[in-house]
This record gives sequence, C-alpha cells and structure tokens, in this order.
Amino acid sequence: MSMKRLYIASLLGALVLHSCMFELAICASNYTDQLALLAFKSSINFDPNNVLSNWTKETNFCDWFGILCSRRRQRVTSLRLRNTGLRGTISPHVGNLSFLQVLDIRNNSFHGHLTVEFERLRRLRKLIVQQNMLEGSIPVELHRCQNLQVISLEGNNFSGNIPKDLGTLPFLRILYLGRNNLQGTIPPFFGNTTSLKEFGVESNNIYGNIPIELSLLPNLSGLYCQYNHLTGSIPRAIFNKSSLILISLNMNAFSGNLPTTTGLWLPNLEILSLADNLLVGEIPSYLSNSTKLTWLLLPRNLFTGPIPKSLGNLNLIERLKLEGNQLTTEPGSTQLSFIIALTNCTSLQKLFVGENKFSGTIPNSIGNFSMSLQVLDVSECQLMGQIPKEIGSLRNLNELSLAGSNLNGNIPSTI
Ligand SMILES: *[C@@H]1O[C@H](CO)[C@@H](O)[C@H](O)[C@H]1NC(C)=O
Ligand SMILES: *[C@@H]1O[C@H](CO)[C@@H](O)[C@H](O)[C@H]1NC(C)=O
Ligand SMILES: *[C@@H]1O[C@H](CO)[C@@H](O)[C@H](O)[C@H]1NC(C)=O
Ligand SMILES: *[C@@H]1O[C@H](CO)[C@@H](O)[C@H](O)[C@H]1NC(C)=O
Ligand SMILES: *[C@@H]1O[C@H](CO)[C@@H](O)[C@H](O)[C@H]1NC(C)=O
Ligand SMILES: *[C@@H]1O[C@H](CO)[C@@H](O)[C@H](O)[C@H]1NC(C)=O
Ligand SMILES: *[C@@H]1O[C@H](CO)[C@@H](O)[C@H](O)[C@H]1NC(C)=O
Ligand SMILES: *[C@@H]1O[C@H](CO)[C@@H](O)[C@H](O)[C@H]1NC(C)=O
Ligand SMILES: *[C@@H]1O[C@H](CO)[C@@H](O)[C@H](O)[C@H]1NC(C)=O
Ligand SMILES: *[C@@H]1O[C@H](CO)[C@@H](O)[C@H](O)[C@H]1NC(C)=O
Ligand SMILES: *[C@@H]1O[C@H](CO)[C@@H](O)[C@H](O)[C@H]1NC(C)=O
Repeated sequence: MSMKRLYIASLLGALVLHSCMFELAICASNYTDQLALLAFKSSINFDPNNVLSNWTKETNFCDWFGILCSRRRQRVTSLRLRNTGLRGTISPHVGNLSFLQVLDIRNNSFHGHLTVEFERLRRLRKLIVQQNMLEGSIPVELHRCQNLQVISLEGNNFSGNIPKDLGTLPFLRILYLGRNNLQGTIPPFFGNTTSLKEFGVESNNIYGNIPIELSLLPNLSGLYCQYNHLTGSIPRAIFNKSSLILISLNMNAFSGNLPTTTGLWLPNLEILSLADNLLVGEIPSYLSNSTKLTWLLLPRNLFTGPIPKSLGNLNLIERLKLEGNQLTTEPGSTQLSFIIALTNCTSLQKLFVGENKFSGTIPNSIGNFSMSLQVLDVSECQLMGQIPKEIGSLRNLNELSLAGSNLNGNIPSTI
C-alpha cells in the first residue's frame, strides 16, 4: 500500500471515528429515542388500558407496546397507539425521533397543539392523528417533512387556514383535514402535489371555489368537500376524470350547471353526491356511462328537465336521490316514464324523486321494478290516476310515499 493510500485510509478512519463519537454523544444515539419516548409517556396523564405499562427503562424500548425499530440501527421507525384511550398532550420530544416514519395515534384523547418540532421528522411518511381533540393551527413547517405521503388530521379542532405549503409535498397521496374548524380557501398550490389521490376538507368553514388546479390532479380518486361554504361552479375537468371514484360536494353553495358536452366520462365513479347546492340545468346523460355508480345523490338543487332514460343502464345503482328539484315528465308523455326506464336497475334499493314537477300516471310496469326496491318516494308531485295494483308485487318495499298528489281510486288490496 502506498503512503498516499495509507494516509487517506487513516484520515477516513479518523473521520468515521469522529462522527461515531459525535453521534453517540448527541444526535443519532438510540438513547435519544428512549428519552423521547419516555418524555412522550410523561405527557400522557391517563392510560385506561395500561398500554404504556411496559414502557420502562428496564426494558428495550424496541419491545415496548406500539413501537417498531429499524433492525440494524435499533432506531424507532414507528409509533402506533391507535384506539387506546390515551389522554394527554403530544410531547415536543417526539421531534427527536429522527428515524420515525409512521406516527399513528388515531382515536385517542390527545389535546393541545401539533408542535413545530414535528418539522424535524424528515423521514416521516405517515402522520395520523385523526379523532383526537387537538387544536390550534396546522403547523406550516410540516412541509419540511418532504417524505410525507399520508396526513390525517380529521376529527380534531384545528383552526386557521389550510397551509398552502403542504402543496409542495412531492409524495403526498392522502390529505384528510375534515371535521375541524378550518377556515379560508382551498389553496391552488395543491395542484402541485401530483401524487395526491385523496383530498378531504369536509365539515369545516372553507369558502371560495374548488381551484381548477385541484381538478387537474392526474390521480385524484376521492374528493370530499361536503359541509362547507364553497361557491362558484364545479370545475368542468372533474366530470371527465377517469381516476375519480368518490365525489362528495353536498351542503355547499355551488351554482351553475353541470357540463353537458358529450365525450365527458367518469368510468370509475361509484359515488356522486351534490345534494343541497344551487345547481341548475339538466342531469347530464353521460352519467349513465358511469357504470360503476352505486349512489347518485342530487337532491335539493334546481335541476330541470326529465330524468335521463339512459340512467336505466346503471346496473349497480343502489340509491337514486333526486328529490327537491324541478324535474319534469318526458315531453309528450302522460305517465312517469322514468319508472319504466329504471326497471332494469336490478340493484336499486332507494328511489327518492319527490318534490319535483312531474305530472302523469304511475305506469303498471312499476311492478317490474327490481325486487331489491325498499323505498319509493314520489311525494309532492302531480300524480294522477290510480295506484296500479302491480305495486303489490314489490315484496321488499317497506316505505312508499305518494303523499301530496292527485291520485284517485282505492288503495289496491295487493299492497
Ligand atoms: C442501542 O445501541 C446499542 C449499541 O449499538 C445496542 O447495544 C442496543 O441494543 C441498542 N438498542 C437499544 C434499544 O438500546
Ligand atoms: C409490552 O407489551 C406488549 C403487548 O402486551 C408485548 O407484546 C411486549 O412484548 C411487551 N414488552 C416488554 C418489554 O415487556
Ligand atoms: C376508538 O377507540 C375506542 C377505544 O378507546 C373504541 O371503543 C372505538 O371503537 C374506537 N373507534 C373507532 C372508530 O375505531
Ligand atoms: C429533544 O427535544 C426536546 C424538546 O423539543 C429538547 O429540549 C431536547 O434538547 C432534545 N434533545 C434530546 C437529546 O433529547
Ligand atoms: C374548538 O376551538 C375553538 C377555538 O378555535 C373553541 O372556541 C371551541 O370551543 C373548540 N371546540 C371544542 C369542541 O373544543
Ligand atoms: C405551485 O402552484 C402554484 C399555484 O398553482 C404556483 O404558483 C407555484 O409556482 C407552484 N409551486 C411549485 C413549487 O411548483
Ligand atoms: C398515478 O398513478 C399511477 C398508477 O398508480 C402511477 O404509476 C403514477 O406514478 C401516478 N402519478 C403520479 C403523478 O403520482
Ligand atoms: C375527456 O378525457 C379524455 C381523455 O381522458 C379525452 O380524450 C377527451 O377529449 C375528454 N373529453 C372532453 C369533452 O374534454
Ligand atoms: C356513452 O358512451 C358511449 C360509448 O362510449 C358513447 O357513444 C355515448 O355517446 C356516451 N353517452 C353520453 C351521453 O356521453
Ligand atoms: C331492459 O333490458 C332488456 C334486456 O337487456 C332490454 O331488452 C330492455 O329494453 C331494457 N328495458 C329498458 C326500459 O331499458
Ligand atoms: C312489465 O310489466 C308489464 C305490466 O305489468 C308486464 O306486462 C310485462 O310483462 C313486464 N315485463 C317484464 C320484463 O317483466
């Protein structure tokens, strides 16, 4: 070995030795993890199920309940204490668990704030603190945890705005902020988190529009914005997004019409809820090409025109709720022709179409409705003629409402 190589080797050795000593003393030692976990325990003041009873110095912390460590370095990678009834605050010492990848303390009674020390968890992938009593603002600094894939803060009492910097997290797949006390608007910056699949801000005080940027996310599959104060029209791109499975925008103040252009398609959509908004126009017939649709919920809007006959193609539809709109009978028809059209929906359980502007007779083919039908509500419409006796063949029907109509004759004994 040449002198030069020997020199380099010894230099490297010294460096390695130096950083080991440095690490042992200060940062990377597993002692820090023990200390951090004990501090976490000490800020918990009620442990009804004694899950932390074996968190003691006498035992290796990697064997403590809820803890997983990396094999090689024996550092804490996962802290999972779900559904354990723990009450207390989250110690800022958690920020010292520098190898932590998963923090899951869902469904406990943690209160207080999510401290800025969390920003030091650079390896953190999952932050799940849903269903607690945490409050204060969502720390903006969380965006420094650039490996975050899942953030679930839902079901707490977080307030303030949705930090726009969370839109810079490159691997974020799931963001659940629902059922808090958040205000402000949805930052268009979330258009930058192209990996986002699930976006939930339901039951807050969010106002403004759904940013177009959000509707352009390539893999968005769940959009939960119900129970807020959102306004404006629903971005058109939402209605041609093959990745979408669930759209829940009910209880807002969305207005305008749904796009009616042909060539729009939601092939994977299973649930569409736009209930309780101010939407106008017709029910778009392309929805009948969403053959996986199980729930189509559009009640209490201002929809006009007839129910598209093509909805009868929805083989998997279980709930169809269209009540409280201004829907009318097919032009030129004297009967409720949608009843004929929907008889092929063999999974239909609940059909609510009351409080609309239909007029006409109930067709006899009502008896051809799927045996799965349990609820039929056509109340507060201008129904005429008699109740067909065929209705008696719907053996599973347990709720029938025809109130507020101009029906005449007897109630058929078949009922
Ligand atoms: C901590 O590190 C030491 C030295 O590497 C090792 O002996 C010990 O098992 C590690 N784990 C714990 C939990 O102390
Ligand atoms: C602590 O409790 C858990 C669950 O009861 C058990 O799996 C684990 O082995 C215990 N650890 C120690 C060090 O006793
Ligand atoms: C929450 O935890 C409690 C036990 O503390 C359990 O009874 C309850 O089922 C859990 N709730 C959910 C939604 O997991
Ligand atoms: C751990 O975190 C606490 C609070 O954030 C801090 O005071 C302490 O110095 C940190 N370091 C160690 C080694 O515990
Ligand atoms: C939630 O936080 C607000 C302050 O932001 C407070 O006024 C309210 O009482 C809290 N609600 C609950 C249920 O703790
Ligand atoms: C994120 O999106 C916003 C608004 O859409 C844009 O102005 C900004 O430049 C984007 N930032 C990054 C880092 O891509
Ligand atoms: C979208 O999902 C596909 C399939 O899971 C994946 O290959 C792709 O990388 C994702 N796109 C982004 C931007 O994350
Ligand atoms: C809908 O999206 C498809 C691709 O996913 C595209 O080819 C088509 O042009 C779009 N239709 C409309 C009307 O924008
Ligand atoms: C439904 O899909 C078929 C086949 O792709 C297409 O021809 C038809 O125009 C679509 N219907 C609507 C209303 O978009
Ligand atoms: C129901 O399906 C059958 C068989 O596919 C078809 O012949 C009939 O026209 C359909 N009825 C309606 C009302 O769409
Ligand atoms: C539908 O109902 C009508 C009237 O009750 C009946 O004549 C017809 O055979 C039924 N069609 C099917 C496919 O059951």
